[in-house]
Amino acid sequence: MRLASGDATALAVAFFFSAAAAAADPKACAACHGEGGNSSNPAVPSLAGQPAQFISTALYMFRAGNRKDPQMTPMATGLSNTEMNDLAAYFSAQKAAPSRHRASPDNAAAGPSLAQKFQCMQCHGARMLGQQHIPRLAGQQFEYLRAQLRSFKRGTRMDLDGKMSESAQPLSDKDIEVLADYIAGLGS
Ligand code: HEC
Ligand code: HEC
Repeated sequence: MRLASGDATALAVAFFFSAAAAAADPKACAACHGEGGNSSNPAVPSLAGQPAQFISTALYMFRAGNRKDPQMTPMATGLSNTEMNDLAAYFSAQKAAPSRHRASPDNAAAGPSLAQKFQCMQCHGARMLGQQHIPRLAGQQFEYLRAQLRSFKRGTRMDLDGKMSESAQPLSDKDIEVLADYIAGLGS
């Protein structure tokens, strides 16, 4: 049987979509973000249990070049909006593993009032589990949290509405250390 040209086009389209679907496979993310999005790499954030809207927004920002990272940017550039939303739905539905980080006793004691003072919970939620476009922080990798707070303060990580950059301005280096240590240990 000979293929009509319409069938050949259909085949080409089907091939294109299956190749694209393979690129959006969450397994491609596990090498860095861990199985089910629970990272064990201090420099790489966990994705499990992050609000879906936050994950999609972060992926859009990497693709658009508003947010840059030598490892993550190339992962986002080839993804379509649908793939980004599917990956966001997948990782958002994964259960966050209990935190294995143990904050120092001083930082664990000082953390809650510092977070109160700087109003972190007003946006990130009472238990810092995130909501809508605002990320979950509880149990996130300590080094990653510290690096991101420094980066918002320096202005090297851009955020969509500028609210987070604004919130990071009054933080001292010491505040950032205490908050990152305390927050990484939440949910353990
Ligand atoms: C080669 C390693 C690597 C791979 C593979 C990778 N990522 Fe990333 N990803 C990173 C790093 C490193 C960061 C943190 C970048 C930074 O410091 O801003 C990141 C950040 C992210 C963020 C932002 C999370 C946050 O809390 O701000 C999202 C969302 C994300 N990656 C999704 C994905 C998805 C989905 C895939 C698979 C399609 C993927 N990543 C594959 C390394 C990787
Ligand atoms: C006015 C709302 C608001 C307040 C207050 C706020 N944040 Fe945020 N935060 C955000 C938003 C929105 C983002 C996502 C920014 C983006 O990537 O576009 C964010 C991102 C972050 C991130 C990056 C996490 C990740 O996974 O990439 C960290 C860390 C963080 N906030 C910590 C804090 C801490 C600590 C405080 C208190 C000192 C705080 N935030 C106060 C809104 C807020």
